[in-house]
Amino acid sequence: MKREDIDRILSELGELKCRTLKEVEEARVRFLGKKGEVTALFDEFREVSKDMKKEFGRSLNELKKTVQDKIEELRNTVGGDESVAASGVDLTMPGDDFGLGSRHPVSIVRQEIVDIFRKFGYDVAEGPEIEDDYHVFGALNFPDNHPARDMQDTFFVSVGHPNPLLLRTHTSSVQVRTMEKTDVPIRVVCPGRVFRNEAISARAHCIFHQIEGLYIDEGVTFADLRQAILLFAREMFGPETQIRMRPSYFPFTEPSAEVDVSCNICHGKGCNICKGTGWLEILGCGMVDPNVLEASGIDSKKYSGFAFGMGLERIAMLKWRVNDLRHYFENDLRFLKEFEAAPEV
Ligand code: DAH
Repeated sequence: MKREDIDRILSELGELKCRTLKEVEEARVRFLGKKGEVTALFDEFREVSKDMKKEFGRSLNELKKTVQDKIEELRNTVGGDESVAASGVDLTMPGDDFGLGSRHPVSIVRQEIVDIFRKFGYDVAEGPEIEDDYHVFGALNFPDNHPARDMQDTFFVSVGHPNPLLLRTHTSSVQVRTMEKTDVPIRVVCPGRVFRNEAISARAHCIFHQIEGLYIDEGVTFADLRQAILLFAREMFGPETQIRMRPSYFPFTEPSAEVDVSCNICHGKGCNICKGTGWLEILGCGMVDPNVLEASGIDSKKYSGFAFGMGLERIAMLKWRVNDLRHYFENDLRFLKEFEAAPEV
């Protein structure tokens, strides 16, 4: 056994490079295996004369430790590459496309309607979904015994109180909140979710969405209301669209009307969507009742205004001919995917 043997192994070790775990294992066997170079030196050590044993012994042990450390270090640095290579995964391959999803049809319609009224100069206002009786009914001129307040129709959060909390049954409550805090002239649309105690079916749901509109200024007339609705209907359903107004009743408007648009499927000839009438009902509207203006501190001698309200699911149904309201709430991907190609709004 010679000192040079130890030095040679140390210098070979210094230059050792491995790219894979397999090469690291080969290096380990070469130095430390049964027939390895370091193992051979230990065999030769038995023959070393007694007086040299001490010196060689220490050097040999240091050598073995150095080799072991080096092998360990190599194993740690090449390990990742090797496992990836062995797994057959190609990290340079493009990833799987997981799809971005799409807007919900109710969101698409809401945005379209808001954009149309924004063009006409309307702002957007919002209000709470948990409301009090005053903002949903009282300030809107509902008499105390009006059936809408009935528990069969309204979800109450608290009962017994003179002004109980409830889930708003329409977005007209946001009219009231807007009038309370905004100076006239007022021009707003108020989109939001509403709740009614209805049995769920293809034509009714206990949760749905509305957009309320309110315009108050000096000298606002029914002709302004009619023109605003006509312009909206033509933007929404096409430039050929006609409207008709039928007299109706709401506690918060006087006079009140319901508005139909000409059926954009049969163009007035009559089809199964418009049930042969050539007309489709889209909203309720009217001139804001002076009592409603006064309740929110607006001088009804000086100012007048109109209001309207429409259901978003209904408009979406007409637009896309969805025949069952429940589809809007079930989040069935097969239904939602139908709207992927809808315009980004
Ligand atoms: N709030 C009514 C409803 O939920 C809709 C409505 C009708 C709103 C007439 C109005 C209006 O602002 O003037 O059925």
